[in-house]
Amino acid sequence: MRWGAQMVNRIRQYPAARALIAQSVALVLVGMLVYLTAQLSSWRPPIMAAGLAQGLLAATLGRYLGLSRWWFGLNLLFVPALLLGRGSELPAWVFLLGFVLVLLLNWNSVSERVPLYLSGAPSRQALIGLLQQQPADFRFIDLGCGPGSALLALARQFPQAQFVGVETAPLSFALAWLRALRQPNCLVRLENLWRTDLSTYDVVYCFLSPAPMARLWDKAQAQMRPGSLLVSNSFEVPEQPAEQVIEVGDWRGSRLLIWQMQG
Ligand SMILES: C[S@@+](CC[C@H](N)C(=O)[O-])C[C@H]1O[C@@H](n2cnc3c(N)ncnc32)[C@H](O)[C@@H]1O
Repeated sequence: MRWGAQMVNRIRQYPAARALIAQSVALVLVGMLVYLTAQLSSWRPPIMAAGLAQGLLAATLGRYLGLSRWWFGLNLLFVPALLLGRGSELPAWVFLLGFVLVLLLNWNSVSERVPLYLSGAPSRQALIGLLQQQPADFRFIDLGCGPGSALLALARQFPQAQFVGVETAPLSFALAWLRALRQPNCLVRLENLWRTDLSTYDVVYCFLSPAPMARLWDKAQAQMRPGSLLVSNSFEVPEQPAEQVIEVGDWRGSRLLIWQMQG
């Protein structure tokens, strides 16, 4: 009984597990439907139509299981993409390479429940507006900087300030590190954000997921200097309403949530 409850809790914690359940259930149901149709009539549904039906069902089940909106597209297209790939002339290693690249970019999806998606240009613009209010030589860190797009854009915009990015997804880190070589006020480290000391930064920026926010708040409270800013792109801290909210105005409905650390 306890084992069962633990299992359910684990599954709740990991969106990838919920996606797997949604995909499997949809596969079985659509597979059964196709089988029954074949038994009872001479009609054979086109394979891609069956794939799309499976995707639609998986995506709907995924939403029902509490997966966030962006999983909808993934669940919808997963099996149709496999079917498309199956019919193509591409050699098998191309798919393996694709899988490895996705894995190296999304290293933290499973353990940290933080996949890779990027702060878009409107978010960067909103950040620039916020950083303009800092003294010229401020210190900024991006916790989980991905391939460094936002970090480098900001570093170019504020040449007198210091920018640091930490990242543990191998390919994202390598890209960000290489790009930062040409930007003298920007440093990228292969480092787990939970090991990063936040005490020397004026602005700590993160765009993670709901999962780590409570723990990150505790870390920020313990380490950040009074007066420094914690800025979270879109993800709230449970029970800690942001002191300032900047609507970014993009298609995702992004918001910069800002807290100033107290003494
Ligand atoms: C949603 S992306 C945001 C990328 C970038 N900050 C931006 O705004 O464009 C989150 C990134 O955090 C990284 N990440 C997640 N957990 C991490 C951890 N514990 N330590 C370092 N990086 C982490 C992920 O690999 C991913 O690249």
